[in-house]
Amino acid sequence: MNRNDKTARIAHVFSGTFVHSTLRAAVEILQNCVLGVDDKGKIAFIENHQDVVSLSEIWGFETSDIKQLGQYEFLMPGMVDTHIHASQYSYTGTALDLPLLEWLNTYTFPVEAKYKDLDFANNVYTKVVRRTLKNGTTTACYFATIHTDASLLLGELADSFGQRALVGKVCMDCNSAYPNVKPVVTPRFAPSCSSSLLSELGEIANNNKLHIQSHISENKEEVELVKTLFPDCKSYTDVYLKHNLLTDKTVMAHGCHLTDEELEIFRETGSAISHCPNSNISICSGMLNVRNILNHKVKLGLGTDVAGGYSPSMLDAMRRTIDTSKALTIQDPQHKTLSFEEVFRLATLGGSEALSLDDQIGNFVVGKEFDALRVNVCVPDGPIDLFPGECPKVILEKFLNLGDDRNITEVYVAGRQVVPFPDTK
Ligand code: GUN
Ligand code: FE
Repeated sequence: MNRNDKTARIAHVFSGTFVHSTLRAAVEILQNCVLGVDDKGKIAFIENHQDVVSLSEIWGFETSDIKQLGQYEFLMPGMVDTHIHASQYSYTGTALDLPLLEWLNTYTFPVEAKYKDLDFANNVYTKVVRRTLKNGTTTACYFATIHTDASLLLGELADSFGQRALVGKVCMDCNSAYPNVKPVVTPRFAPSCSSSLLSELGEIANNNKLHIQSHISENKEEVELVKTLFPDCKSYTDVYLKHNLLTDKTVMAHGCHLTDEELEIFRETGSAISHCPNSNISICSGMLNVRNILNHKVKLGLGTDVAGGYSPSMLDAMRRTIDTSKALTIQDPQHKTLSFEEVFRLATLGGSEALSLDDQIGNFVVGKEFDALRVNVCVPDGPIDLFPGECPKVILEKFLNLGDDRNITEVYVAGRQVVPFPDTK
């Protein structure tokens, strides 16, 4: 309970139940605890409530300022969407009738061309940032488009709404004014990039220690196409490896059809996979075996992949992750289905690891930034009914399976309350 940093002041103190993942436990439920956030947005302490008086003396806050969580409330870490196309948000929920390569040509490329118009971009990007924040995505790893001005606008909007984000148009040093919005080097995928473009992007990323994102082995036709386009490479993974695009700050979406040998390369390089199950089913790409990825000790987070995936909500990404895992168990009863606890971890701590942000976010550890959701499972006219005797773990499970943005009453990023939106937004 020692206070190391004597300069920080306490900005918020919450008391009640806290749910998060740790390296040892997929779900740890801390009841009757108090959590303090300092004025730099970092978690200052998380301790038993019985010590609240001495905590208030050590840290200099008034116990009357404590935010008391109700019986049916808890705080959980904000969710990390490791793969979302902000530029495809306008047609989310439609256009799911074609496989990847035709889907790109028919629906995606014509819409993405519109982002040279900043008014169009402003409208869609404002809506996607608001929608995802309201649904509890405190960190989003965005694909924008080839348009620099519109990509910068997405970064500006994420910053102004207070969302933590990686924004992908290649823009190494353009966003450095925003503490929680960073650029991510974004080759779309191997079929749409020449070898020289991939090499240049690899060099830019490595020289500037930047994040990298792309797509890999999403659909079988795409994998075959990559073989013909890069005949000198042993595999799809080898294409990115040869161009220095697999680093410990790389996140590759999908990976449905990666071989075990390719997964070894992911593990060795520290590169991560973003699992996008809604998209994988919606455009019939494949079913990623997450258990196999985890057994290979490859970092993995979840993504919505809007608009290949029809839902912008990470709660949906968790549910679809379980559905796919169960479908794999139906095919092979030996397959060990993912538990809801494991999937909760993937949406929070796992996502932070996949984006190499786990030293900053992902769970409630002292010194990390306070990215959190205040969840109330009992909101009036809400989607969840509770019955007597339900323990916090059952309540968590009900929220993960039945909850929606009505249950996410407050959202914090880096200690700042960003939902409900201020009146000016
Ligand atoms: N592969 C290359 N581009 C895309 C995209 O926009 N969406 C999906 N799902 N896969 C891709
Ligand atoms: Fe994608």
